[in-house]
Amino acid sequence: METVTTIAAARDRLDRARADGATVGLVPTMGYLHEGHASLIERAAAEHPFVAVTVFVNPLQFGPTEDLDAYPRDLAADQQLIERCGGTLVIAPSVEEMYPRPILTTVTVAEVSARLEGASRPTHFAGVATVVAKLFNLAGPCHAYFGEKDWQQVAVIRRMAQDLNFPVTVVACPIVREPDGLARSSRNVYLTEPERAAAPVLHRALEAGIAAIERGERDPAAIHRLMADLVGAEPHAALDYAEVVDAATLTPVDPLAGELRLLVAARFGRARLIDNVGVEVASGS
Ligand code: PAF
Repeated sequence: METVTTIAAARDRLDRARADGATVGLVPTMGYLHEGHASLIERAAAEHPFVAVTVFVNPLQFGPTEDLDAYPRDLAADQQLIERCGGTLVIAPSVEEMYPRPILTTVTVAEVSARLEGASRPTHFAGVATVVAKLFNLAGPCHAYFGEKDWQQVAVIRRMAQDLNFPVTVVACPIVREPDGLARSSRNVYLTEPERAAAPVLHRALEAGIAAIERGERDPAAIHRLMADLVGAEPHAALDYAEVVDAATLTPVDPLAGELRLLVAARFGRARLIDNVGVEVASGS
């Protein structure tokens, strides 16, 4: 496995791999990798002979109150995990390499970015879309792997890739869960014991929402109430949102039909946790 730190070296390595007949799997990350990332890299390695993992803490996606300097970094540990999972190339550019001058060009995916996570982090998804556009440009034709836990991020990136004709297939990988249903997240370490015991309520609320839809409920307000009441009844949880929306545009659907996504976010002490599940409802059913 090799590590490169410049865009030119990354392009050169990826172009050579494709010229040798390899297909490329790309796993964009901000480093400090955990088992959730491992599952993305392993999936990419199972599907492609050449797997590039980018490790870059992107300043553009941090808001003014979010502490970029406090974001954890450990490239040596990341390199070990990437190698263990079958990665071929680590791309770890500096901020100066990625943003050599103040950036005047950004990518905004309207509508998809606006609600849910976008409501509390208004500049976040433009920061994500801009850096991912840069990473797709440096990577070239590939399959790019993202975790479904950040469903809105997946939807933003997928729409950007479609709208701007990137030669990239966006692959969304299933959420990795603990046995009690809690979605794996680096934020789970901030949970106290009682908060950890309470946190699976997010997944239970989503499952209750799905069950109601499967029983025939088509009113999004009823699904919202059901999920919000379940999370609200948990004393350790402070609900942020509980919604069912169109899976691709993240906009409200009423009555419920088509590809839907149920999403919840709540604070448990220091940790703000998010979770989601998908369901398809045949129109007219
Ligand atoms: O999900 C992340 O780690 C980041 O948002 C991403 C996609 C690597 C862009 O910086």
